[in-house]
Amino acid sequence: MIHYNPNTRTFNLLGSQSHYAMMVDGDGRLIHLAWGPTPNPLSGHNRFAPPGQSSFEFQGQRDELPAYGPISVHEVALKASFLKAPAALSAGEALYRPIRDVRLAYTGHEIEENAQLPTSSSSFRTPHSTLRISLTDSLQPLTVTLCYRLFPAHDIIERWCTLTNTGPDPIRIEKLAFAALHLPPGSNEVTTVHGAWGAEFTTQRHTLPVGSFNIGHRSVQTGHAFNPFFLANRPGHATETSGPVYFGALAFSGAWLLTFEHQHSGDMRVFGGYNPFDFELILQPGQTHTTPAFVCGVSGEGWGGASRRLHAFTRDAVLPNAAPRPVLYNSWEATYFALSHEGQAALARKAAAIGVELFVVDDGWFGGRRSPLSGLGDWTVSPEVFPNGLQPLIDEVHALGMQFGLWFEPEMVNPDSDLYRQHPDWVLHFPGRPRTEARMQLVLDYGRDEVIEYIFSALDALLSTHDIDFIKWDMNRNVTEPGSVTGKAIWRAHTAGVYRLMDRLRQKYPNLSLQSCSGGGGRVDLGILRRVDQVWTSDNTDALDRLGIQEGFSLAYPARIMEAWVTHEKNHQTGRVLDLSTRFDVAMRGALGIGSDLNALGDEELKEYASYIAFYKRFRHVVQDGDLYRLETLAEHGASTLLYVLPDQSEAVYSVAVHDHLIGRHRPPARLCGLNSTAVYTITDRHERAIAHLSGADLMAQGIPGDTYGPAGYSRTLHLKIVK
Ligand code: GLA
Repeated sequence: MIHYNPNTRTFNLLGSQSHYAMMVDGDGRLIHLAWGPTPNPLSGHNRFAPPGQSSFEFQGQRDELPAYGPISVHEVALKASFLKAPAALSAGEALYRPIRDVRLAYTGHEIEENAQLPTSSSSFRTPHSTLRISLTDSLQPLTVTLCYRLFPAHDIIERWCTLTNTGPDPIRIEKLAFAALHLPPGSNEVTTVHGAWGAEFTTQRHTLPVGSFNIGHRSVQTGHAFNPFFLANRPGHATETSGPVYFGALAFSGAWLLTFEHQHSGDMRVFGGYNPFDFELILQPGQTHTTPAFVCGVSGEGWGGASRRLHAFTRDAVLPNAAPRPVLYNSWEATYFALSHEGQAALARKAAAIGVELFVVDDGWFGGRRSPLSGLGDWTVSPEVFPNGLQPLIDEVHALGMQFGLWFEPEMVNPDSDLYRQHPDWVLHFPGRPRTEARMQLVLDYGRDEVIEYIFSALDALLSTHDIDFIKWDMNRNVTEPGSVTGKAIWRAHTAGVYRLMDRLRQKYPNLSLQSCSGGGGRVDLGILRRVDQVWTSDNTDALDRLGIQEGFSLAYPARIMEAWVTHEKNHQTGRVLDLSTRFDVAMRGALGIGSDLNALGDEELKEYASYIAFYKRFRHVVQDGDLYRLETLAEHGASTLLYVLPDQSEAVYSVAVHDHLIGRHRPPARLCGLNSTAVYTITDRHERAIAHLSGADLMAQGIPGDTYGPAGYSRTLHLKIVK
């Protein structure tokens, strides 16, 4: 519920277990009052008056959108220059151009309660209401509307802002965060993830010193180095299961920045938005700019509660649809570039026989793409690889009862391609400068409408003539030399172009599913997740490495989008040999996929694959739609133990995997969470053997019998169900 009290000029946003309050002060400034994990409304009393009132410390006011003007020495969310034409200023005044301060004051608001809930495949399968507060500069022609969309069931607020130039001259926006979050003083323990190709989502938890800490990316995808989300709490006041934890995540896949400003006073502010490096946004007269969203929330149930809220929100209000994710086979690691109709058809037959539901042909099927050296950009089926075209393979895959998927990398071009030979000016570059290649490829200039049109037509030509159910949308390099016909706006224009293309494709082909991949998990964020059904988490499929990657991923993102594949016994990325059971137990924690060379497996092993896939199908609804409890985490226990519980508590999936050798020690059994304490659960293994019947209360007090010891690689998956 969103409530406004006109007497105290106070806004209260009440979630099911949270409150967020702000007020308009005597100067018209919109001031943050409170945010916390209880649904208690506040009246208009600013409990956080600036602590220091010396001549150096008068800027501690907690503006909902700190702007450069009233705030000059601390971090700001907005900085603008007003480029008033010299003719409009006196000769003396013109010397002061550009005027570089913004003073925003409240001018009005509107509340839109429970905007209509679309029933099926669209965002917002959950109630919500939206508050829009207008702030206007009294001297300069700038209006900023701060938007708050509250999802009470999830204790989440989606925040963004809209800037409008109401005057006759351009305004240059030099810095813009989508929102600034004020955390309670002292909330300086921050959890984020960092990484690289093959090592995405490495968790780091730090107590921040006084100062500013930044994570971000300066390219046109989300990036491997960091992911745009955080969890924050007071040091020592939160655990996996308890304590107030604040969280936020950006819904944007371009150059982004999260700044955590920990002030001497103890104040903690988090700014999330456009990366200010090389940033420029010119608002022409009459023009409006709407930022992407900074999603934020609070949990009273520790880091686990924060993750569960983000997961449920993503499932209910972000992802394009709620259908179960199919078991996928991808032939990349089986054949790499050695594609042929016969080879793929043979794999497809074996994949169907073991229970696969979606068969994906990866890189190498098009143009002159026989290796990474050439062909990117030429999106026509290669007659060299498929002399009779692709449709016969698609027909065969469909006849086997599977969907058909295909790999694309629509933002890239190899210099050795027909596209580049025809349009060498269609790539990001600076005239006369080298065009730095990475993986022998260059980035197309998505600032050019004709490029977007060309790519749309190329994909459309294939989709309209072939029965393609699924696209793997890849993106395999960072940007260098960001020269574009759009100038510095390319940092936003590229992402806008990708979104536009995906939206258009989804609109024209409503049954098409998309996967986001950027050399693995380089493009995962709440912006792309509005448009894709799942993501490729990492090219690293080593099950023990995956434990950490998937644990970091699970801090923010739900299991249903997390593709996890079983690949070869000897892993292609790490060379490590792991049992099939470990590989399946870890991959079954997300959207299961298979990437092994099925032609190299004997009948017995194929039967084992089939048995695991059948097991997964029995409980996948619990993994994909359930609430996740991280019972044991790697840093604390050397093992990762997860429990997924359906919201009605009728079923759960328990999954343990030991990462470190724990020699000479008993691991205390992990106690389960979130079950129905009075009901009796029947616990079954892959072979449908009932290994125990235990009450929810027993399981939550003592854990699952028999899991107290395990060497590295020990793993086990069990299905729990209340049998009436
Ligand atoms: C990237 C992807 C891989 C695969 C290759 C194909 O590396 O992450 O999964 O699709 O490209 O070239």
